[in-house]
Amino acid sequence: MTRTRIGILGLGGYVPERIMTNDEWTQYVDTSDEWITTRTGIKRRRLAADHENTADLAIAAAQRALADAQLTPDQIDEIIVASDTPEVYTPDTASFVQHLLGAREIPAYDLAGSGCAGFVLGLEIARSRVGDGARRVLVIGVELLTRLMSWTDRNTCVLFGDAAGAAVVGAGADAAEILAATAGTDGSRGDILMAEVGGTRSPFTMERARLGLHQWIVMKGREVFKEATSRMCAAANEVLEQAGVDVEDVALVVPHQANLRIIQATGKALGVPAEKVFVNVQEYGNTGSASVPLALWEARQQGRIGPGDLVLLTAFGAGFHWAATLLRF
Ligand code: ACO
Repeated sequence: MTRTRIGILGLGGYVPERIMTNDEWTQYVDTSDEWITTRTGIKRRRLAADHENTADLAIAAAQRALADAQLTPDQIDEIIVASDTPEVYTPDTASFVQHLLGAREIPAYDLAGSGCAGFVLGLEIARSRVGDGARRVLVIGVELLTRLMSWTDRNTCVLFGDAAGAAVVGAGADAAEILAATAGTDGSRGDILMAEVGGTRSPFTMERARLGLHQWIVMKGREVFKEATSRMCAAANEVLEQAGVDVEDVALVVPHQANLRIIQATGKALGVPAEKVFVNVQEYGNTGSASVPLALWEARQQGRIGPGDLVLLTAFGAGFHWAATLLRF
């Protein structure tokens, strides 16, 4: 008898059509293709069209994930949206997604502000909400970062892009089983990556808006770099240990795509050869919580993942948050 697995039933990704190259950034800030390429590995990123908002990107990815799972929106029992760039501040983006998708009147909620680790954390929450297999949960990672960041801060603007990725989590004989998962937070490191203006600590004022502070992301790049590498590596090792799996048996590592050097350093620290580490940061830049599901979707489309393969997801984000998941396809 086939064992029922709880895991991913379908995957989908979406990137807007408009491509922005590194050279185009030289029109806005003092930078170069050479600086961006050598420091980050990014060559281009996607920009949402004027008529596209966060929920539109989310819906596009969700519809592909549903089609992949051969399910219709009314068969979804819960929606989780991970995003730092919401449609509006209130209500949450999940409300828009529930309506636009045509889902039933089901629980729908955001993991807001969890940075780039949000989707991987969402997978683990979904697994527990699926319970013994009675529910199907749609998990979406979506960001429209280019609309909320400052286009005059070269330290951050060149890093980001717009995208969405989605997964349907539930029970099924063909599910990519979630074998192990972990997540953690160190709030004492919140100051190394933060968009401060707009909340109760520092509400919007005309003066702050005039200075462009509402779009300002404070980022201590080198500290983020160090935390990112050590946290992604530790989280990855934790799920391998939980599952009793040796790193050599992992077919593919899909890390958060923030920066090529962080990805390479993480692969090296894990003892995984470069050909087993998936990279698409050169195409899309850092797409926040969309990065892992988009990369996972692309990796499968490119034939990099086959039946039975062990795939390790690991991510970090503002907070400082981290999360990792081990899947068996
Ligand atoms: N173009 C040209 N010069 C630039 C640019 C740019 N776009 N941005 C910064 N610089 C300059 C700075 O002004 C500084 O100049 P100075 O030395 O005259 O003051 C210099 O470059 C900075 O150099 P370094 O600090 O040596 O740069 P570094 O090698 O650390 O690379 C980077 C910077 C790419 C930001 C790196 O630290 C990094 O990748 N950090 C992690 C960033 C990250 O992943 N953020 C996460 C975002 S959100 C998330 O994923 C959760």
